[in-house]
Amino acid sequence: MRRMLVTGGAGFIGSNFVHDTLRRFPDVEVTVLDLLTYAGSQRNLDGVPVTFVHGDICDASLVDGLVAATDVVVHFAAESHVDNSLNDPSPFIQTNIVGTFTLLEAVRKHEVRLHHISTDEVFGDLPLDSLEQFTEQTAYDPSSPYSASKASSDMLVRAWVRSYGVQATISNCANNYGSYQHVEKLIPRQITNILLGDKPKLYGAGANVREWTHVTDHNSAVHRIITAGQIGETYLIGSGDERSNQQIITQLLTLMGQDPTAYDHVPDRPGHDLRYSNNTTKLRTELGWTPRYDFEAGLAATITWYRENAAWWKPQKSSTEAKYKLLGR
Ligand SMILES: NC(=O)c1ccc[n+]([C@@H]2O[C@H](COP(=O)([O-])OP(=O)(O)OC[C@H]3O[C@@H](n4cnc5c(N)ncnc54)[C@H](O)[C@@H]3O)[C@@H](O)[C@H]2O)c1
Repeated sequence: MRRMLVTGGAGFIGSNFVHDTLRRFPDVEVTVLDLLTYAGSQRNLDGVPVTFVHGDICDASLVDGLVAATDVVVHFAAESHVDNSLNDPSPFIQTNIVGTFTLLEAVRKHEVRLHHISTDEVFGDLPLDSLEQFTEQTAYDPSSPYSASKASSDMLVRAWVRSYGVQATISNCANNYGSYQHVEKLIPRQITNILLGDKPKLYGAGANVREWTHVTDHNSAVHRIITAGQIGETYLIGSGDERSNQQIITQLLTLMGQDPTAYDHVPDRPGHDLRYSNNTTKLRTELGWTPRYDFEAGLAATITWYRENAAWWKPQKSSTEAKYKLLGR
């Protein structure tokens, strides 16, 4: 695979993926297709030798031309934030569903390999204080407009594999953290609040549990799947590091030398999923993947990144907090 098209490569996970790909495989020619919504920035790719195309994955003729000139498409582009989807679902339907359909039609026509990036949120949630986990066989049961749109896109990929023989794989990853994540998301929002001398905000009682995976571990799994994954298969990705939202906030405050109880309670997100946890046996045993990051060390490195890159996140911060203020969160 000499030529790679990365959709959403100017966003959080996509830009980290492009950096990792070129570090590991310097001979790969990477083209990034990204609409540069509020969540994407070309600065995330500064100094990285890629061909950058500013455009929409729903633009069929643009996508057709780019797919015709590549060997593999890695599809990260999406509207990705649950709170935004509750406020206005329409861009989620357009980008996540119509955009994935547009890519599928192009990879079908040009017989190009596709890897589709998805989320464990498609499975709905698990009870708190249980040992249950999602597996590749868990039935889809999405709760939010975001997860419903990602579930729809996964279903389209599965149907295009089965009906048209498209060469595709899917991965569903747990929550990610790391550098270049937009300050709307839980961990960077709280880190940047603390850096600005504001209090972190805890939704509801803070009991909701997430499984936190470092973005570099997510991307090493994606590389394994592209090189060794079986066509038509789905792989769950996750670190096994489960934490409640309250634990995350107290851990951040402690790591940043603050009083661990110095946070505000805000109203909960409607329909807030209780717990996610992925069983990653298939990825570990069939493809030999293991996550490398220790959670506390990864969190400390992420804090350092935001501390050292205020010029990157400060322009997003006040508009993001203004949006949260309107939502009362
Ligand atoms: N962040 C997580 O914790 C997480 C976990 C599991 C899976 N995922 C999935 O990983 C993928 C990337 O997530 P992220 O957190 O990096 O998202 P992000 O919001 O940081 O980045 C999304 C990128 O897609 C681009 N984009 C949006 N609409 C587009 C369009 N119509 N055409 C072209 N580009 C468009 C944006 O400009 C941005 O650069 C998504 O598919 C998401 O569902 C995310």
